[in-house]
Amino acid sequence: MKRFFVFFFASLITLLFMAGIVSAEEGKVCIGCHKAVTPLLVKDWQSSKHSNNDVACNICHGSEHKSRKTSHLARMPDENTCAECHEEQFNQFTKGKHNFGWTSLNALPVTHMEPDELMEGGKGCGGCHNMGVKSEAQKKELRDKGYTYRTNSCDECHTRHTFSKKEAQDPKACRTCHMGFDHPQWEMYESSKHGVRYQLKEMGKLPKDAAAPTCQFCHLPDGTHTNKVAWGFLGVRLPLPKDKQWANDQTTILKALGVLDPEGKPTARLNIVKAADLARLNQEDWQSEREKMIKTCKKCHSEKYARGELEKGDQMIKKADRLMAKAINIVADLYKDGILKKPAHYTYAYPDFLHFYQTGGSYIEQVLFKMYMKHRMRTYQGVFHANPDYAYWYGWAPMTKTLDEVKKIAEGLRCKANIQQ
Ligand code: HEC
Ligand code: HEC
Ligand code: HEC
Ligand code: HEC
Ligand code: HEC
Ligand code: HEC
Ligand code: HEC
Ligand code: HEC
Repeated sequence: MKRFFVFFFASLITLLFMAGIVSAEEGKVCIGCHKAVTPLLVKDWQSSKHSNNDVACNICHGSEHKSRKTSHLARMPDENTCAECHEEQFNQFTKGKHNFGWTSLNALPVTHMEPDELMEGGKGCGGCHNMGVKSEAQKKELRDKGYTYRTNSCDECHTRHTFSKKEAQDPKACRTCHMGFDHPQWEMYESSKHGVRYQLKEMGKLPKDAAAPTCQFCHLPDGTHTNKVAWGFLGVRLPLPKDKQWANDQTTILKALGVLDPEGKPTARLNIVKAADLARLNQEDWQSEREKMIKTCKKCHSEKYARGELEKGDQMIKKADRLMAKAINIVADLYKDGILKKPAHYTYAYPDFLHFYQTGGSYIEQVLFKMYMKHRMRTYQGVFHANPDYAYWYGWAPMTKTLDEVKKIAEGLRCKANIQQ
């Protein structure tokens, strides 16, 4: 019996060794031809750690395609391929919010009304939301529509085929997605003292040990791949705040998100929000993310300072919510009084943020949507990212102005309705 095991393991080792040689040989064949077909791609790979470690083309793309005519047989590696060697990073990634990118995009009603090129094709929403391990059903849907690329989230920060750690450690790696209309984190960070110090340090004008937090330092601390914050994008959470007015205002916003119906009862959308981890749903989850953040600030600031700064962010959500709820209620009353008609694709006669710009032609709702997505986001995200200009001139100031505008448009609509009667 013992002899059998010795023989068995000896054979296994020989086989594995031979498989290694075969695999390395196969890799050479790929590289040989691809030096002519895609020369700079091969150079990229050659400069990567993978190249020094025999992780050649065939390891990630398979070996079925070996000739010029068979490129359709090359397999596009998803995150599971990377996980074969980087299990730890994969596991951390799947616990974070990035793993919900594709799911939360597809959970929105508006997504299925937009051009496929912008979604599955990755030229719009899908370009940034190509994040997260896709289910078999999601993959099938993509294949059926003819979309075979963009199957990997890992190369969103470590771009192929250099797959570099240094690249992913730079805040610019986050920039492509965390910028622009509703989440200008790059712009806010870049011009905050944190970002400016980081850039000066890179240029050698500040000492190389100067303290300058990057996005990664605050959001992927200690090299983790799990990203999650206390509030999150929509700036709503459960349980509702203790402050009565604020709780009412958040309820109004939840109605406009369609998570509560106009009477305040939970809808089917609440389940979607839960499934895609769109908001923290209990105090413990919220608090634990907040404490993690404070721990990070405390590496450079005093705890008192850090808590105070973050509380200002919470207070600005509260104050922004007051303006937001007033504006939503003005529009909701137009529905209630029959001045605005319920668009056919709406479930309720109530403003619906999740239909974005496709609001059935009512201009006042487009103004309202912009107030929520652009200005409310900037108000509190600007405070959290230590950027006074975003918090005020791109956030709070346009919110107050927009509330006036909503009032004006509503008066106009009521006036018109009276004349027509
Ligand atoms: C004899 C030349 C040759 C060899 C050998 C070769 N390839 Fe290719 N490969 C090509 C050509 C040509 C294309 C198509 C390029 C294009 O679309 O412009 C291609 C395309 C690809 C693609 C992209 C497919 C797509 O859908 O865009 C991958 C991935 C790939 N090869 C990987 C490999 C791997 C892995 C090996 C080794 C197992 C290999 N190649 C061996 C010539 C070769
Ligand atoms: C560590 C894994 C890994 C290795 C090794 C690797 N690739 Fe890739 N490759 C990827 C990933 C990830 C993608 C993107 C897949 C997607 O978009 O669905 C990709 C995409 C491609 C594409 C199509 C997209 C494009 O930009 O044109 C080609 C061609 C390609 N690889 C060729 C190669 C060649 C040739 C080698 C060897 C020199 C190689 N790959 C080695 C992971 C790898
Ligand atoms: C067959 C095993 C294997 C597979 C599959 C693999 N890697 Fe690697 N990877 C390695 C090895 C080995 C290293 C070098 C580790 C070291 O030097 O510490 C490495 C290093 C890395 C690094 C660090 C590079 C640096 O600059 O320090 C990144 C990032 C990385 N891989 C990403 C990926 C991604 C993304 C995929 C999937 C597309 C992938 N790897 C697939 C084996 C693999
Ligand atoms: C390819 C686009 C892309 C890149 C690159 C990217 N992200 Fe994200 N990020 C997203 C998307 C999409 C979401 C929202 C995910 C969802 O739908 O839940 C997100 C969400 C987040 C969140 C919010 C977490 C929460 O609790 O709401 C943080 C923090 C974050 N990313 C940090 C980073 C950092 C730091 C980097 C750079 C190292 C980065 N991201 C790079 C697309 C990206
Ligand atoms: C430029 C990249 C980009 C584009 C384009 C984009 N998003 Fe996002 N999206 C993000 C990022 C980054 C976040 C996280 C922002 C944050 O937490 O502040 C996000 C957050 C979200 C969230 C909330 C996820 C959560 O868990 O909090 C939803 C839903 C969403 N986006 C849907 C869409 C839809 C629908 C479109 C197209 C109409 C779209 N996105 C276009 C990058 C993008
Ligand atoms: C949001 C951006 C982002 C995404 C997406 C991402 N990474 Fe990373 N990755 C990083 C950062 C930042 C580091 C550097 C961590 C550090 O400072 O130690 C890193 C480091 C690594 C390393 C090197 C670890 C070491 O200590 O040498 C590997 C391997 C790696 N990532 C694999 C992956 C894999 C596999 C995936 C997909 C499941 C992935 N990464 C997705 C940002 C990202
Ligand atoms: C000094 C630390 C710090 C730095 C640097 C930093 N952030 Fe943040 N970020 C925060 C804090 C604090 C919050 C709010 C957390 C909360 O909800 O309590 C936040 C929130 C976010 C959110 C969620 C926004 C939302 O709508 O709720 C995203 C996404 C994000 N940051 C991305 C980034 C990106 C990308 C960078 C770099 C360009 C960056 N952050 C730089 C501390 C930082
Ligand atoms: C790696 C060190 C580091 C970390 C981590 C860090 N900061 Fe800072 N922060 C600084 C430095 C240095 C300055 C510049 C101080 C000055 O203006 O003299 C600064 C400036 C600020 C400012 C602007 C102050 C002013 O006077 O303009 C605020 C607000 C701030 N930090 C809040 C935070 C919060 C909140 C966190 C955690 C989410 C945090 N910081 C994390 C180093 C850090």
